[in-house]
Amino acid sequence: MNEREKIYEGKAKILYKGTEKSTAIQYFKDHATAFNNLKKSTIEGKGIFNNKISEHIFIKLNQIGIKTHFIKSLNEREQLIHMVEIIPLEFIVRNIATGSLTKRLGIIDGTVLSKPLLEYSYKNDELGDPLVAREHIAEFNWASSAELDLINNQCLKINNFMQTMFKNVGIKLVDFKLEFGRINIDGKKEILLADEISPDTCRFWDVVSEKKLDKDRFRKDLGNLIQAYQEVAERLGITIEK
Ligand code: TMP
Repeated sequence: MNEREKIYEGKAKILYKGTEKSTAIQYFKDHATAFNNLKKSTIEGKGIFNNKISEHIFIKLNQIGIKTHFIKSLNEREQLIHMVEIIPLEFIVRNIATGSLTKRLGIIDGTVLSKPLLEYSYKNDELGDPLVAREHIAEFNWASSAELDLINNQCLKINNFMQTMFKNVGIKLVDFKLEFGRINIDGKKEILLADEISPDTCRFWDVVSEKKLDKDRFRKDLGNLIQAYQEVAERLGITIEK
């Protein structure tokens, strides 16, 4: 077997060296974790759905002018991506209050927010990805003020686009997490949308029943996770060859 060079292994994905310089292969695993790895399991087929759903969304975002790390699909679990220097922040966009927002501030679950709420977490598993303010980001040089302005704009643009895309298939986009990275293209620095956008990193509720169609099925032991991910894929018109 042709052993590939592993660059990094995370909880849900593995990065291998790509075929060309400055590229990588992003492999989607079947591992599911929650609460910073306290809860873990393997859910057969999850990686395939996340790969295909993420690919579908990244291609659409690219078409509306969002620069992303996605280059091309390789197979059911892998995509070729630009290797970026990840900005150590998670950008969380919320349209409806749930999850950690309701726990932290005592807000009633399901409260519709007057406008999208953007939060920043410092990517650090040991610290449990703590919420940080713009001032922390500046003080500790995690991103420049110009980078942050650009990314904030992109987050809102992505939210607008995805809200419509999911509304059209009967799904409420409750909240989601984005990651961005830096890359040098012909000596020019660019910011690219990185990581993934999938039911692992978003909350999706059915418009009518409010049934959860995302990783909350695992976090809250609701069962039928694969069926929910498959439903998201089918509603988006994604076909998965098996
Ligand atoms: P939260 O309510 O737990 O803070 O999650 C907000 C959103 O971010 C939700 O859609 C799930 C997503 N998320 C991740 O993708 N990775 C994470 O590590 C966490 C904590 C949340």
